[in-house]
Amino acid sequence: MTEVTEAGQPSRPQSVAEFSDAACDVISPAAWDFISGGSGAERSVAANLRAFDNLYVAPRMLRDVSHVSTASRLVGTEASLPVAIAPMAYHGLVHPQSEAATARAAKTAGVPFTVAMLSGTPVERIAESGADLWFQLYWLRDRGATKELVSRAEAAGCQALMLTVDVPRLGRRLKDQRNGFALPPDVYAAHFRGEAAIGAQRASAEGSAVASHTTVMFDPSLAWSDIEWLRERTRLPLVVKGILTREDALMATRSGVDALVVSNHGGRQLDGAVPGLTVLPEIRAAVGDTVEVLVDGGIRSGSDVLKALARGADGVLLGRPILYGLAVGGESGVDAVLSLLREELETDLALSGCRTVGEAAHLTTYEFSASSSTGTASW
Ligand SMILES: Cc1cc2nc3c(=O)[nH]c(=O)nc-3n(C[C@H](O)[C@H](O)[C@H](O)COP(=O)(O)O)c2cc1C
Repeated sequence: MTEVTEAGQPSRPQSVAEFSDAACDVISPAAWDFISGGSGAERSVAANLRAFDNLYVAPRMLRDVSHVSTASRLVGTEASLPVAIAPMAYHGLVHPQSEAATARAAKTAGVPFTVAMLSGTPVERIAESGADLWFQLYWLRDRGATKELVSRAEAAGCQALMLTVDVPRLGRRLKDQRNGFALPPDVYAAHFRGEAAIGAQRASAEGSAVASHTTVMFDPSLAWSDIEWLRERTRLPLVVKGILTREDALMATRSGVDALVVSNHGGRQLDGAVPGLTVLPEIRAAVGDTVEVLVDGGIRSGSDVLKALARGADGVLLGRPILYGLAVGGESGVDAVLSLLREELETDLALSGCRTVGEAAHLTTYEFSASSSTGTASW
């Protein structure tokens, strides 16, 4: 895929799709399956992309777009784009510099980096990058370990806690099961010790070691009262990730949550779960401005970010494209993906008559199949 220029240098990928192709060439097939894949027949993976493909924006004209700003504030963190890096486990699967390289690129780009609980690098080391960090938690069977992680995240200077609520158990990821996917010896869960750290390295006859590690560690009894427990234990803004219904969005607001991530986990949990983009307008309508609403799943361009904003998101989380950039070029690869997204979003804001990220909320969108409009057309 990578074109060669006259000077004999490979040209920089011009789109996330090209980064994805280039990453596929350099990652091991099993790691590629783990990262790019999803659960079941991968219907939700495909639907996430289709949801963006099927949505069209009606651009506004004659609005003096000589100056366009992508500046944002997400969950209390200043950001140069309405984008944060999604929590993703084990960046070391694609590059030896791992989360440290991703965090340095996040710092350069001025976007928040969500450190995964299952990070291969401890949060204290990632914090050396100077990036704005958020910390993601799964609900552990060991309540004491959860408390300890909250304290570590706070002490390391993280600016928000994000609890992922859509993994009571791991989705059936058929490719990983067939591959008997296990982490290589140099990649482990760095926030843990002993078996909890290396459990996902143990290949098992049953299939994916990541799945069996999850079963041992995660507590499927998670319920709304636990959110209140967590709320009482931290002063950091609390984000709940994995909401897809109005009802749950309202429950979250009543539990003292500051922000939601409308997400189907990149199509890696319930196969057939609706794309976040599809339910975003009704969730925004239900919660109003009481909480921030972020969305993720299938964002692959600046125009996808614009569409998410037009549908009611305050910002987005970017998942796989970050790992594709990391695989291709380490820190500079992630940097290139984020620069590309910035260039695209700046252009698309101008082309749709928006001078700021906030103005994009007023754009009217049309779904290709239903030809129905959502959003408002008033300025
Ligand atoms: C390789 C990989 C690992 C992930 N690990 C986590 C995780 O540890 N915690 C979490 O909340 N979400 C995790 N996710 C889900 C992402 O945070 C995000 O919801 C999803 O990737 C967004 O979709 P996108 O990849 O299409 O942008 C992971 C996703 C991928 C691709």
